[in-house]
Formats: sequence, structure tokens, C-alpha cells
Amino acid sequence: MTTATAHPNIALIKYWGKQDAPGNIPVAPNVSITLSNLTTTTAISEHDRDEFWLNAEQVVDTKLEGFLADLRREFTIAPVKIESTNNFPTGAGLASSASGFAALITALNHHAKMRLDVATMSQWARRGSASAARSLMCGYVSLTPPAWRAEQVAAPAHWPLHVVVAVTSTVPKAIGSTDGMRISRDTSPYFPAWVATGASDFDDAVQAIAARDFDKLAAAAELSCLKMHSVMLTSVPTLAYWNPATVACMDAIRSLRAAGTAVFFSIDAGPQVKAICLPQHTDAVEQVLGQIEGVRETIRCALGDAAQVIRP
Ligand code: PMV
Repeated sequence: MTTATAHPNIALIKYWGKQDAPGNIPVAPNVSITLSNLTTTTAISEHDRDEFWLNAEQVVDTKLEGFLADLRREFTIAPVKIESTNNFPTGAGLASSASGFAALITALNHHAKMRLDVATMSQWARRGSASAARSLMCGYVSLTPPAWRAEQVAAPAHWPLHVVVAVTSTVPKAIGSTDGMRISRDTSPYFPAWVATGASDFDDAVQAIAARDFDKLAAAAELSCLKMHSVMLTSVPTLAYWNPATVACMDAIRSLRAAGTAVFFSIDAGPQVKAICLPQHTDAVEQVLGQIEGVRETIRCALGDAAQVIRP
């Protein structure tokens, strides 16, 4: 049995929309931070047929079946039992597919002796879920053309930011990201503007990271998040991921920042709010978010490790 772990990541400059090409290629460059504390652990063992277990329940997953079939066109992989566990809510906007595919390719690479380097593993992870490519690495990680493989923009020690996740619901989302992105591309009048401005938002964020310029990163990241949600909300049918607690958290984060706390928000395809802050402000941010009505739990994270094999 081979066991690997990976952590979710939060995109600071987000991807929402795929190119008309195979392999889950984003429409614009994006950059994320890999988190500590939230962990997917995936164990692979030989079996008489493929079986997939998620959080101790056997499941059928067509995305995963397709992923294995693609890999088997290039590598010899005997039937496997894949047992994956998340220590956080699955499918509720906490990026479980990112850590899931990152842990899976890391474990499979070792189990089936595929001998892939990290960059190539990230390209494979991208084919499972584009954001998964970024969870192969730690720190600040980009996914950019032309190769669309993950690259580390900066190590965690360069700027060890913290993240407080405010969990406002644990209900899995009704429309998954692949369908949501197709709906947005086909129906939102704002989709072309979102794509056209993605590269300059990305450049702003990468410059802000290099310079450790918190205000500049906060501005670029919140704008990217709000543009993505504007595209989602103006899709037909609308993709409305926020609940009242989500909005209350955003307001509280804006008030904290106006009063001098270095914090900004980010929200993915779900109702959870991620507050990114300087470490000296983590306690204050967690205290404020934890008191908001509808916030069920807060989770503190630092910048996490890369995906890794923990038991060969
Ligand atoms: O990796 P996917 O295809 O599940 O899409 C994730 C998209 C967002 O999390 C909303 C944004 C991002 O860049 O991670």
C-alpha cells in the first residue's frame, strides 16, 4: 500500500472557464497558495478490480474512471483500490478535488513506478481538475501557458501568510465546477471581459507577491474573486454560491481592513470565506469571523507542504 497526502489550495487569481481543448486548460493564468491543516490522505493498494472509496464509503466517480483510463494509455497500472479521506467537508467549496487529484497522482506515481517529476505530475493532476495542478507544490504556485503545469512563484518562507477559513455550510454544491464553467462561458455577458482582464490581474498579483506588498495583493485578489462571482451570478441559470453568512464575513473583513488589519477575502465555488492575513492578525480575524451568525466553524491554516508520499 502506498499513501500520499496533499492540501487544497486557494487561488488568489482565479480560474473559471476552460479552453476548447482536451486536458482542462484554463482560459487565463492563475496563482494560488497551498494550505496547511486541511488534508487529503490517499492510499493505493493492488486489488482484483478498480474500487474507489471516499471518506470510508465506496463511490462511483466517472471523472476518476476517465482519469485512470487516460493514465493507462501511457502507463501500466494494474487494478487498484483507492481510499481517499478528507479531514474537511468534501465538495463544499474547500477545493477537495484539488487536493484529491494531487494526492492521487502522487500516490499512483510511486505505486505504479511511473517515475514522473513534479511538473509532469502537475500536468496529469490538471487533467483531473485544473486547480489540482497547483496542489502538487507548496507556497505560491502559478498555472500558466503554454505548458499549463504548476510552477512555484515563491516558497512559503518568502511570505508566510495565514488563512482563516470561515465554514458557513457543509452542504455539497448543486452544480459542480466543470458544468458551472461551461454554463458561464455560454451565457454570462461578462465572461469575455473576465477572460480579457485575467492576465493583467495575474501580473499584478505576482508582482505583489514578489514585493510582499499586502495592499496590492489584497486589491488584485479581491477583484479577481468578485469578477469571478459576477460571472457566476450573471450565468443562466445563475450560479449563486453565497449565503448571508458569506456576505457578512466579506463585510467584516472589509471593516477590519479599514481599521488597519492586514486581511482580505477570497471565495471559491461555494459559500466558505477564506480570510488571508498577516500572521500577527490571525487571532483578531478568527475572533471576528467566529462571532458572525451562520459561521459554523473557523479553521486556521498556514502555507502548507507540497503533495508527498508519506508511506511508500
Ligand atoms: O479545479 P476545478 O476545475 O474544480 O475548478 C476550481 C475553480 C475555482 O476553485 C473556483 C477557482 C480556482 O482557480 O481554484
